[in-house]
Amino acid sequence: MTLNITYLGHSGFLFDDGKHVLAVDPFLTGNPLARHKPADIRCQYVALTHGHGDHLGDTVAIAKANGATVIACWEITEYLGEQGIQRLEPGNPGGRIVTDFGWVAFTQAYHSASFEGRYMGNPCGLVIQIGGATVYHGGDTGLFSDMKLIGEIYRPQIACIPIGDRFTMGPELASKAAEWIRPKVAIPIHYKTFGLLRQNAEGFAPAGVEVKELEPGQTWRFG
Ligand code: NI
Ligand code: MN
Repeated sequence: MTLNITYLGHSGFLFDDGKHVLAVDPFLTGNPLARHKPADIRCQYVALTHGHGDHLGDTVAIAKANGATVIACWEITEYLGEQGIQRLEPGNPGGRIVTDFGWVAFTQAYHSASFEGRYMGNPCGLVIQIGGATVYHGGDTGLFSDMKLIGEIYRPQIACIPIGDRFTMGPELASKAAEWIRPKVAIPIHYKTFGLLRQNAEGFAPAGVEVKELEPGQTWRFG
């Protein structure tokens, strides 16, 4: 098992298995905490949880520069097609897309999704199998009890869980989410980027789950 996980800040990550790089929610331009610029990103794939600007981020520039395939819900891929992105893998909750690194499955997320007034489809969570590991990325979401089912079905070792409050769960509900999903490691996301969000991970302390706080720009080797 080889998986290098680079936190881009906010909800963004690079997952690198040594042969393939998948970027998730690469929001760099306008992210005051980001250490990477869009031109720094080398990837074959981009996967998106939903169409809000702080998740779609620099996807168009990154996908064009890399000739990357974008994995996202149907409405987002329609939008990206209009922006000139050619390699698109549309999906929706319940479905799974098999790739050459593994697969990406879409789960529900309890949230909204529009961009510049346009409907961007269902917000999603993603379950990603890469580098021999299974990772759940919750996207932006409130707490919902089917997170237990996500844990039961996919058994992710790693869960990236929004804790910033206001637009998603805060630390207390996010702790409950992690206890329901039961990963080995939970990575807090979607906090401290803006003044409206919680500024630290205090209170995110799920029982029986290791919390791994990553700094933007930090790479952590899993496994
Ligand atoms: Ni959002
Ligand atoms: Mn967001």
